[in-house]
Amino acid sequence: MTEERSARSLEEKEMFFPPKEFSSNAVIQNSEIHELGQDRNEFWNEQGKRLDWFKSWDTILEWNYPFAKWYVGGKLNAAYNCLDRHLKGARRNKAALIFEGEQGDRRVFTYQDLLREVSQFANVLKSLEVEKGDRVTIYMPMIPETVIAMLACARIGAAHCVVFGGFSAEALKDRIQDSQSKVVVTTDGSYRRGNSIPLKANVDRALPSVTCINNCVENVIVVKRTGQPVDMIEGRDIWYHEAVENVSIVCPAEAMEADDMLFILYTSGTTGKPKGVVHTVGGYMVGVSTTHEWVFDLKEEDVYWCTADVGWITGHSYLVYGPLSNGATVVMYEGAPDYPEKDRYWKIVEKYRVTILYTAPTAIRTFMKWGESYPSGRDLSSLRLLGSVGEPINPEAWMWYYKHIGREQCPIVDTWWQTETGMIMMTPLPGITPLKPGSCTIPFPGVHIEIVDHAGDPVPKGKSGYLVVREPWPAMLKTVYGDDKRYEDTYWSQFKGLYFTGDEAKWDEDSYFWVTGRVDDVINVSGHRIGTAEVESALADHPFVAEAACVGRTHEVKGQAVFAFVSLKEGIAVNDELVDELKAHVVLKIGSLARPDDIFLSTELPKTRSGKIMRRLLKDIAEGREIGDTSTLADVGVINFLKENIDARR
Ligand code: WT7
Repeated sequence: MTEERSARSLEEKEMFFPPKEFSSNAVIQNSEIHELGQDRNEFWNEQGKRLDWFKSWDTILEWNYPFAKWYVGGKLNAAYNCLDRHLKGARRNKAALIFEGEQGDRRVFTYQDLLREVSQFANVLKSLEVEKGDRVTIYMPMIPETVIAMLACARIGAAHCVVFGGFSAEALKDRIQDSQSKVVVTTDGSYRRGNSIPLKANVDRALPSVTCINNCVENVIVVKRTGQPVDMIEGRDIWYHEAVENVSIVCPAEAMEADDMLFILYTSGTTGKPKGVVHTVGGYMVGVSTTHEWVFDLKEEDVYWCTADVGWITGHSYLVYGPLSNGATVVMYEGAPDYPEKDRYWKIVEKYRVTILYTAPTAIRTFMKWGESYPSGRDLSSLRLLGSVGEPINPEAWMWYYKHIGREQCPIVDTWWQTETGMIMMTPLPGITPLKPGSCTIPFPGVHIEIVDHAGDPVPKGKSGYLVVREPWPAMLKTVYGDDKRYEDTYWSQFKGLYFTGDEAKWDEDSYFWVTGRVDDVINVSGHRIGTAEVESALADHPFVAEAACVGRTHEVKGQAVFAFVSLKEGIAVNDELVDELKAHVVLKIGSLARPDDIFLSTELPKTRSGKIMRRLLKDIAEGREIGDTSTLADVGVINFLKENIDARR
């Protein structure tokens, strides 16, 4: 049987069990843990004790629908929990962060080292008058200073807003403006496949157009990474290495209310404007710490590697706050998986004897395409657990990961969650949960997830519906920054009393969940959320474009790709160069992650009689399938024209 066929026939039926030895040594061995989680308040009350609190909480949860406050009355500090408390014991000189640069350079920070660096940079921020509650934008590549800057903010109670280094100057501007950050931390540049990408120059381009309400962006702190030339503006720009020189290495950690803001992270939604998802200190830290330990079966001696960029929530929760709060040794890699060769990841696993690897289906499918000779040429025997996140993992990719990376010895934890959930919500617990390739299995203890129909009623087993969360959970977002109404409208208005995830899912006979994808106008490209409205407004911004409509189409490696339909203004001729120009325009407006794979130019888009673009039909065309019901179209000719021309191109 081919690998592909065997994978397909496994679907929903066959289960994979963890090796006996794995189960008998697992952190969680007792399957009654899920029952324990049914008393949610009691369960999370118990888990709260895993952190160090300056003051214990009085009330576990205040639920003022749809606003939750967890660990009310408690005081703590996230950086203290990630650093200081480990210094009391044997972890003092343990490697906290092992950094591997793309060029092969390496830096290792013990917990003690990291505390020193963080405290010092926290003092730099303080000297720039960054105070509790202020925002700091971090626009950086995957280097240790990024983690240090995040923890330094957490230490003094400033909220960090990390902006992924792949975003353009314009996207950066929107995020700085919305957060009204007082300081921006960046680098001269970042390495990617041996080239250097100018980050500081993007900051310089972004800042002049930021509308500032009060003292925003007074300073830019620049880490020297690539050594490329940058313009330093007198009085505003400061070199990181100069700023930390001779600064005290002692900085007390601010006692934060559990409900104080820890960070803002922007994510795409159904409108053109990205949402600033707000996470708070107490609930978030308990959520990520608990899930990180249990889902990844963390032991003292593990070497844990999460390949996600810190610019995304996975980097926040499972590269920084989860693992460091648990005293883990974390590997951080700066660059591309195929630099200098396609076996870079496996070389890193071999070099550091990585035991736990957390990556994304799109990466796995890329490795599949490159072929198994790359992993098989390296010693991967240290691996004992594999993780997946970001999008549904197809059973073929699951099987390949299991076989060629995990030697059929490593359980795979397929973890479902979101920027908004802060923590993993559905996942196997690797010592006790039998696995089904392609299913994220069951909710984490203490999390109440359901699948409901249009009316908000639970669907029976075997059926699909909308994925919702019924009760508050500790790491849930607090709000959308500066916009409580948008928070309420986006997440709590579709189904009364339920948090709507935007996903569709199915429930099988064994009560396992199968998430099939988004039902809103969000495209999941390589595990990154792209809002169709954002790409559409980027396209519409081009002087030749009349209108644009984007849909997601299935893509072999990326999961989904952006397919854009564009109608041009009167008198503009359709030509191939214009397609390239429009793609470049999207990159300029948002970043290369949003670049459409296909752009189809025409004179008109298919609309209903009331003038609404029929995306459903465009999606049918993009996917190359039969076109659905066209009876509400104003002019069927438009859709026929599109279909014929696109089919002819295929
Ligand atoms: C969306 C959230 C939080 C991780 C990084 C993405 C999809 C995420 C899975 C999974 C199926 C998944 C969902 C979700 N998703 N993980 N294991 N199986 N789908 O975070 O950008 O906030 O996107 O990613 O559609 O809603 P995000």
